[in-house]
Amino acid sequence: MTAGGQATGRRVLVLNGPNLGRLGKREPSVYGTATYADLAVTCRQVGRELGFDVEVRQTEYEGELITWIHEACDNAIPVVLNAGAFTHYSYAVMDAVKMRTAPLVEVHLSNISAREDFRHQSVITGAATGIIAGFGLHSYVLALHAIAALAAESAQKEPLIVRPLANTGEPAATGPDAREPDVL
Ligand code: DQA
Repeated sequence: MTAGGQATGRRVLVLNGPNLGRLGKREPSVYGTATYADLAVTCRQVGRELGFDVEVRQTEYEGELITWIHEACDNAIPVVLNAGAFTHYSYAVMDAVKMRTAPLVEVHLSNISAREDFRHQSVITGAATGIIAGFGLHSYVLALHAIAALAAESAQKEPLIVRPLANTGEPAATGPDAREPDVL
């Protein structure tokens, strides 16, 4: 995040599957009263605070969800994924998630393990980076924080690149974490 709290441009996709656009109206005793619009605003705001440009999307269609996962795979974009009921049976979504090139956090508003038997199994979890379930909208917030933590961790591991200065022949450090060139 910049000093002014602006996003620094790293994209994150928050992808939602069927029926999630109806949050607020849909079984409020299970999913709460926050609307899909609330969810989108929260994710974008938390994303901004973490230095991400968060895009929130929702679809009723399996193929569209898979196409968005492909887009994330092709561009190494981290994903927060609530696949809705596809979670429990879509091998096609699972296969798409297997191609991920960046962290993908599976989320659920409800605690799927505490609900009907058919919801206990997620075919996606094994292909995801991890899963967060049962915290309502906070599940998404926690997932964005997890992605930020993983991004910070991998930035730390990026090698320091040292190249000679044109005029002096002195080495100069470059990269996000430039420091004295004691480590090559
Ligand atoms: C859900 C749980 C799924 O079992 C259900 O089909 C949904 C929402 C959740 O966020 O709790 O659509 O993914």
